[in-house]
Amino acid sequence: MEKVKFFDTTLRDGEQSPGCSMSADEKLTLAKQLERLGVNTIEAGFAASSPGDFESVREIGRQITNSTVVSLCRASKNDIDSAIEALSDAKNWGIHTFISTSDLHMKHKLQMEPKDVKAMAVAAVERAKKATDNVEFSPEDATRSDPEFLVEVLSETVRAGATILNIPDTVGYTTPDEMFDLITRLRNEVYNADKVTFSVHCHNDLGLGVANSLAAVRAGARQIECTINGIGERAGNASLEELVMALKTRQEYFGFESDIVTEQLFPSSKLLSKITGVDVQPNKAIVGANAFAHEAGIHQHGVLKNPLTYEIMTPQSVGIKSSSLVMGKHSGRFALGERIKELGFDLNDIDLNHIFKEFKRLADLKKQVFDEDIEALVTHGIGKQTDKYSLEDLIVTSGTTAVPTATISMKIDGEVFKKASFGDGPVDAALNTIKEITGIQCTLTSYVVKAITGGTDAQGEVSVGVEKDGVRITGRGAHTDIVVASALAFLNALNRLAIRSKGLSPSTVSYTPLTLPPICRLYISADARP
Ligand code: KIV
Ligand code: ZN
Repeated sequence: MEKVKFFDTTLRDGEQSPGCSMSADEKLTLAKQLERLGVNTIEAGFAASSPGDFESVREIGRQITNSTVVSLCRASKNDIDSAIEALSDAKNWGIHTFISTSDLHMKHKLQMEPKDVKAMAVAAVERAKKATDNVEFSPEDATRSDPEFLVEVLSETVRAGATILNIPDTVGYTTPDEMFDLITRLRNEVYNADKVTFSVHCHNDLGLGVANSLAAVRAGARQIECTINGIGERAGNASLEELVMALKTRQEYFGFESDIVTEQLFPSSKLLSKITGVDVQPNKAIVGANAFAHEAGIHQHGVLKNPLTYEIMTPQSVGIKSSSLVMGKHSGRFALGERIKELGFDLNDIDLNHIFKEFKRLADLKKQVFDEDIEALVTHGIGKQTDKYSLEDLIVTSGTTAVPTATISMKIDGEVFKKASFGDGPVDAALNTIKEITGIQCTLTSYVVKAITGGTDAQGEVSVGVEKDGVRITGRGAHTDIVVASALAFLNALNRLAIRSKGLSPSTVSYTPLTLPPICRLYISADARP
């Protein structure tokens, strides 16, 4: 079966998207992941654009051996020479040079005559070809260029030594049918077209980046330029993970394979989000949080019987451990029963009809019903639940000069206790006070704050991970005041711990505040001041 090659430009075009710039170390880390992912070519940067980019292209070229490393260059002597210098130590490398060919760009951006543009393109390719055999030429804004001029320029660059002709839809303007026709025409009319590889580089301004790239492949392109998570200028580039999985899932239709290790798709997406702090939207195809999540009762039932009913690829094939059934008001009795079994309860001992009724009532009140809620329904039955620990009152003082202090009044087995304590911030002070009152020795392993609704009056939902004697438990709490939500989440975790390890006795307290990465919007460290 023929192969389609993947040219990843996350580190160059992707990095040009707002909020996605990366340090040299981060780029190297990502380049190594791209190599693990199996991309054929990594566009490491634009060597002439800054000394930092030059060094980063050089380092990536030195350390990456399985993928080809290229640098972008304008069609100028200086750009090409600096790319050659940066890549001189690389094992497999190439040069990617470009110049605009549309009337609009030539007149207004370059202020050059078409004949001079053609001459510059040829000179750039000739110069690059003296240093490497791998020379890619891109006529920028190709899809808005005069096709006749495009054929002329591309033919001349092939004569000059270009081995890859990349057709950019620079402003995401074209449609799949037009792209199919353009590639077909170029393959028919460009000089020695059968001796070079046609490539495509589609932007996503109309949301057609992936569709246009696939149309180009159907017309004969054998390289696709794309980015992880589809990041890139403006609305981004065609997304690598979507292209790869479209070709794989519909292999009988497209008839191609690739070198991509699909199980590395999700880890690559996650790594990029972690580095840039930019998450993908939940409904993003392939790698979004909801890509393999099912909420509707009928869907959940189907997936539990046979995943193929509502999943066209397995989560494992893209590197996600398993699908998730989101328990909410759309979930059915069957899915609830399965989740209860997964939580370790024996369904025989449970009146599922009764629990299901209570579950629906709870689901109407809450957006999402978590495992802890289901556990509580099963172990106590809603309404009858008597928590060992409950919050009576919480007062915090904090500010730019005040020492953060929390005064908490809470019940333990019905008896009221009251204490005040300090912390690095109001959340830390509240959690310190609770641990002093309860005397529980446990470790806070994670702390996450999420806005459930929008606006400054948003409900904040806090989830905390707590570990005690090797038992890890999550607690959640929601409130418009995130300090209260944090206290509720911590108490929820302690209540769940108490259920798990009956007879938990108050003892010395050891509480380790977590320091989480400051770059992530949704995460704040336990000692941050909300
Ligand atoms: O979008 C574009 O035209 C580009 C070229 C440099 C290939 O990124
Ligand atoms: Zn681009």
